[in-house]
Amino acid sequence: MENNRGSWGSNLGFIMAAIGSAIGMGNLWGFPYKMGANGGFPFLIIYLFFVITCGVVCMGVEMVIGRKTGKSPVLAMSQLGKRYKIVGWFGVLSATIIMGFYTMLVGYAVRYMLGFGIQIFGASGFGGMGGTDFFVGYTCSPWVVLAFTLLTFALCYIIVAGGIETGIEKFNKVGIPALFGILIVIIIYNFTLEGASQGLVYMFTTKGMEMAGTEFNFITACRMAAGQMLFSCSLGMGAMITYGSYLGKDANISKNAWIIPAADTSAAILAGLAIFPAVFAQGGSPKGGPGLLFMTMHDTFTSMGWIGNVIGFLFYLLVIFAGISSCISLMEVTSAHIIDSSAAKSKPMSRKKAVGIVTLIMVVLSIPVCLDQLGMGSIIPPFYNSFMAEGSKDLLDVYDLLSEGIMMPLGAILMCLIVGWKKGLNWMEEEVELEGNKFHTKKFFHICVKYVTPLVMVFVLVALVLSYINV
Ligand code: PHE
Repeated sequence: MENNRGSWGSNLGFIMAAIGSAIGMGNLWGFPYKMGANGGFPFLIIYLFFVITCGVVCMGVEMVIGRKTGKSPVLAMSQLGKRYKIVGWFGVLSATIIMGFYTMLVGYAVRYMLGFGIQIFGASGFGGMGGTDFFVGYTCSPWVVLAFTLLTFALCYIIVAGGIETGIEKFNKVGIPALFGILIVIIIYNFTLEGASQGLVYMFTTKGMEMAGTEFNFITACRMAAGQMLFSCSLGMGAMITYGSYLGKDANISKNAWIIPAADTSAAILAGLAIFPAVFAQGGSPKGGPGLLFMTMHDTFTSMGWIGNVIGFLFYLLVIFAGISSCISLMEVTSAHIIDSSAAKSKPMSRKKAVGIVTLIMVVLSIPVCLDQLGMGSIIPPFYNSFMAEGSKDLLDVYDLLSEGIMMPLGAILMCLIVGWKKGLNWMEEEVELEGNKFHTKKFFHICVKYVTPLVMVFVLVALVLSYINV
């Protein structure tokens, strides 16, 4: 390699970092709610179908592209063919745009963790306000929101600028086991609460739809499951190309491609068990998004009495671990792009400088989102809002539509088509089977990469875009 890009200390380090990227806000506020509101167990089956036919496959494809080229998305894709560069650009742009809102949300969690932390010692962490009042007051204080967002950016900068093995890997090796540990503690506590079983009824049975006030619609369930899967597994935007580019040639890609989505799905289910039993036991109602994670959970912890402060503190610490480990993978995509492309132009740039520039760009993108106050700041021009669906009318949704709604599914489709039809599956096989590794699921990958995954993803792309706009 012409520049010293860094690498993982071990395959385990890579797995932890990739799982860290995958587990994030998506798991915590999206999956459990969507599962309950879309049929419970049937939704889980649909979700698993997408994880296996698309998640595992895209994960394998991205890791192969990354490790084979040893480059970040733009250079990696252009190494596969000059005109495929655009697919790499989708990745870099998606990562940058997602960071424009994701960090703000992690910043919310930092504020809540501090609030409950202070309350453990008897002080008031939320000015004595209830979940809704505090949330509205907080989101409508854009400068405070921005301050917590900047704090989150600073943490991410320190980790990513610290390097692959000494920054990102080190953080995830502690953060991911801690995350699962906290999940288990909260789940065990939840099951001591009276009425907790309602949470299980919500998540796993068809009664959940009644509780959420929704009706089962197969197409909606598929769209929700597929969009959720792509975002939750961090696919279609080059995060796994980037992380894969630091992977040793002896690592078993086909095994990793199964382990990471499996861990992500387990975390999503565990997140549901950490959230809904408590929500129902404390008389709350199911929701998704920021409303659930902040308003409902805030009230839930408050109504538990003093111990609720401890559980609340742990819960938001968990959200922070999940969120930061995702943020750093997004920051790494864009940083690696700058590091690689400056090295390719024989003007190598230090990691610290590259990460600094990237952080600055992302901060600039996040400022209007903080000022928009989840739509209450009305930053978006009315003409744009007129064709956005109800509930998708803030700047965060615009960023989300561009990345999660358009560029990520498009990226996933194109990557599979390029590997399946242009490079050929032998090209992929060669890389997977390096150093004597076995490719046990070769046949399955053959069929999926060429046919199943692109077809399914086209459906997802159309359905996702339609869900954002008024049609
Ligand atoms: N997977 C993360 C989540 O579930 C989000 C993410 C998407 C991270 C794409 C990196 C890349 O929240």
